[in-house]
Amino acid sequence: MLFELAAISAEPERLVRLYLSPEYRRAADLVSLWMRETGLEVFEDALGNVRGRMGAAPRLLIASHIETVIDAGRYDGTMGVVAAILAYDTLVRANAKPAFGIELIAFGDEEASRFPTTLSTSAALAGHFEPKTLALKDSAGVTYAEALRAYGKNPDEVASVALKPHEASAYVELHIEQGPVLEAKNEPLGVVTAMIGQTRLMIEVKGEAGHAGTVPMNLRRDALAGAAEMTIAAEKTGHEGLVATVGTIEARPGAVNIIPGLVRFTLDLRTASDEARKKAIAAYRHECEKIAAKRKLDVAVTVTHEIPTTPCDARLQDQLAAAIEAVGGKPIRLPSGAAHDGMSMAKLCPIAMLFVRCKRGVSHNPAEYASPGDMGLAIAALVRFIERFEKP
Ligand code: GLV
Ligand code: MN
Ligand code: MN
Repeated sequence: MLFELAAISAEPERLVRLYLSPEYRRAADLVSLWMRETGLEVFEDALGNVRGRMGAAPRLLIASHIETVIDAGRYDGTMGVVAAILAYDTLVRANAKPAFGIELIAFGDEEASRFPTTLSTSAALAGHFEPKTLALKDSAGVTYAEALRAYGKNPDEVASVALKPHEASAYVELHIEQGPVLEAKNEPLGVVTAMIGQTRLMIEVKGEAGHAGTVPMNLRRDALAGAAEMTIAAEKTGHEGLVATVGTIEARPGAVNIIPGLVRFTLDLRTASDEARKKAIAAYRHECEKIAAKRKLDVAVTVTHEIPTTPCDARLQDQLAAAIEAVGGKPIRLPSGAAHDGMSMAKLCPIAMLFVRCKRGVSHNPAEYASPGDMGLAIAALVRFIERFEKP
């Protein structure tokens, strides 16, 4: 199933499956089919999330995402969706369908790879979709609302995606760890304690475009050289427990013989303490202003995304740990440095996450790998978790 999904890509040489793209359509159809084959009642909501239901509300929600980053691996997101289907199917085949309701969900916007937003499809489910998201544009200038219409959806119906708190008993997600902890401890499965908060910035640096051959070095206002210094300043912000990444940079007008007059770059900064993150952002903003002043540049720093550290429910963590022990594992408790849809779902109901060891902790990279044995054990643990599930 993972290989079938991985073959659905916009490009032949690498996996690219952006939210609301034709490839996303094909993946959503395949996942709908798989869900339907287990006997679930399947529908697609107004944001293109695929949802398969059984029984009455409140339901236990089990989910992950099916869109990917650019040049993705096969496991991030899709493994959680496939595992949920296989776990539910195992129960159906064993004639052990739970007495409570279940809803499996394949989300569409977790990776922030198409629009400058993230977790918007799960935010909508939790009833917290921000209407301004609809005006955000992808790199081709297509707005989120236009992409929805092209996908056959009506942006005016976003509110219909939401569940009410009494309709969800809990949210659980299975995911590759995307870090090296489980491998180092030689354990296949872990229980997530919390998801680390993050702030994303867009930094715009304005200088003056000019001729690369005629403007003397001391008279330049080179926006890219300034942004380079700000990038190094961002790297210096990082330390044990705080990570800072400049992931995109764009220089205008972007020609070999023109001094860049305008640069935009992004910073993604994460740390468990929300207070420490706020302080680090304030200090970084100050540093950018100092660099800009020294180089006679203008700089504008805008927060594009901010999400606090989100703890997982203690009782659900214990239920997951017990399920891991029941299948012969030793549950390692660990925080997640990656963001997940659970961060938005926590606004609706108690959440939990089960992590699966992945090779060298590599993710957001085609080399991503989780072994069939580890994934099988994770599914067995998920089956056990569902069997023994008690609403917290
Ligand atoms: C999602 O993968 C994120 O943590 O950025
Ligand atoms: Mn993911
Ligand atoms: Mn990811």
